Amino acid sequence: MDGNGRWAKRFGWPRLAGHKKGAESVRRVIRHSPSLGVETLTLYAFSSDNWKRPAEEVNGLMRLLGHFIEKEVTECRANGVRLEFIGRRDRLPSNLVPAIEGAERDTAAGRRLRVRIAIDYSSRDMLLAALRPGADREDISQALGPDVDLLIRTGGEKRLSDFLLWECAYAEFHFTPVAWPDFGERELEAAVSEFRSRERRFGEVYDTTAA
Ligand code: IPE
Ligand code: MG
Repeated sequence: MDGNGRWAKRFGWPRLAGHKKGAESVRRVIRHSPSLGVETLTLYAFSSDNWKRPAEEVNGLMRLLGHFIEKEVTECRANGVRLEFIGRRDRLPSNLVPAIEGAERDTAAGRRLRVRIAIDYSSRDMLLAALRPGADREDISQALGPDVDLLIRTGGEKRLSDFLLWECAYAEFHFTPVAWPDFGERELEAAVSEFRSRERRFGEVYDTTAA
């Protein structure tokens, strides 16, 4: 979910206006995902490196996350959407933690779509926490979460930025210049249909006629 700040700047608005608009894209994408066959959707809302941003933006983002959770839980629950949160919780504003726990509890029965929202998230830190002596691949994947099939990054940058490093071992990548606030059903459909047209080989050779 990248490009909120630049989107707002285009109109001469404060960056937070872009984040607010971005929250609407989150809602759209969550609503539309099940019909496209998406089972798990992981959203990168706030990275552990985002704490380096100006306090005003950080506080605004945290407030926005709180509002989002408060507003969306009922609809998620009604639509079989299970909300989970990944990342550190010990540095979050104290009111956000019970909100997160409540949202996870209230939507735990959801089976249509699993939505994981990454807040204060660092894939490297998650990996470090999952590495135990004797841990094998299965243990680590178990601790972290499912492998990623399709990774979408909006906003024009082409990098991972410490997101799902282990889980993306065989992910297909979709980079789009579209800013996150402009990302909607159409863009999601295009990304998924392009993904479905790709041949995933996982290191194997499928064309046995090739010598
Ligand atoms: C949203 O976009 C990503 C984050 C929440 C934190 P950005 O805030 O990174 O927007 P740009 O990249 O500056 O346009
Ligand atoms: Mg950015």
